[in-house]
Amino acid sequence: MPTPPLNPHLPFGENKNADWYGKDILSVKQFSRDDLQYIFGVAHEMRGMVERIGTFDLLKGKILANLFYEPSTRTSSSFTAAMERLGGSVIPISEVKYSSVSKGESLPDTIRTLECYADVIVLRHPETGSAAIAAKAAKKPVINAGDGVGEHPTQALLDTFTIAEELGRLDNLTVTMLGDLKYGRTVHSLARLLSQFSGIKLNYVSPDILKMPKEVMAEVAEKGVPQAEFSSLEKVLPETDVLYVTRVQKERFEDPADYEKVKGAYVIDPEIMKAAKQDMIVMHPLPRVGEISPEFDDDPRAAYFRQMEYGLYVRMAVLAMVLGKA
Ligand code: NCD
Repeated sequence: MPTPPLNPHLPFGENKNADWYGKDILSVKQFSRDDLQYIFGVAHEMRGMVERIGTFDLLKGKILANLFYEPSTRTSSSFTAAMERLGGSVIPISEVKYSSVSKGESLPDTIRTLECYADVIVLRHPETGSAAIAAKAAKKPVINAGDGVGEHPTQALLDTFTIAEELGRLDNLTVTMLGDLKYGRTVHSLARLLSQFSGIKLNYVSPDILKMPKEVMAEVAEKGVPQAEFSSLEKVLPETDVLYVTRVQKERFEDPADYEKVKGAYVIDPEIMKAAKQDMIVMHPLPRVGEISPEFDDDPRAAYFRQMEYGLYVRMAVLAMVLGKA
């Protein structure tokens, strides 16, 4: 008797009933506190597995399409590493100029193509809302790795995981976001995600032309989280538990002269950090272009390199979840 064909929709060991199976990850608005607790539990286990055995076969045979229309070092390579540590493989498309995108192919068509070959698609794109457009075109899960100035949900997950691991709590924290709060998608996602916790206070320090968008502030206010805006760091640094520094997003300015005016607005260095507590952390999604002096790197409060490593475990967790293996 011939062997019956395998059901392509239900590979061995997959749990189609798991909450996250087949889901797109588009915005942090999808995550409740309970979800975060679950994801961080999985990320924690991933860390243990990587430390003990390095690479294992949880996603063996699965393929990730890593589609990047904007530059990336960390997000792209950590998704690749996450997939490979889980025994899966990756189709990397980061030079879109060498793909059919340069022939004028639309995003939905590129997505429909890639889902013929891959089980999950990670997308970074310069336009806000592009991840949602891709998700609409795809039957396979799409993970938003940054859509213009919109959101960067997996970064916010890893940022929150970093805070939880480093400070041991997510409630009762004063978080100060510094730099380009207008164009920085990481802070848009992080402010929204943190607004679920109690006793959170958010300070926004930025030049006048780079303030946190009103719609993000309105969403955070709805959760009852106090927010305050400042142009200087001095006043809020001593009370800060998490200082989240961002790069001024040169590529998103309409007028280059505006960028020149604000590019060096804040620089964190050992002298400035004398005014901060000892039991606080400094984070940055990276890349940095001068807003944190390398002289501060050896300070135990400098968490930005550890933050990148946490990102690997969180992305492993997310991939395992949407592929029904967590
Ligand atoms: C950030 C991004 O791309 O939004 N980088 C990252 O993903 N780690 C921040 C930035 O580019 O400044």
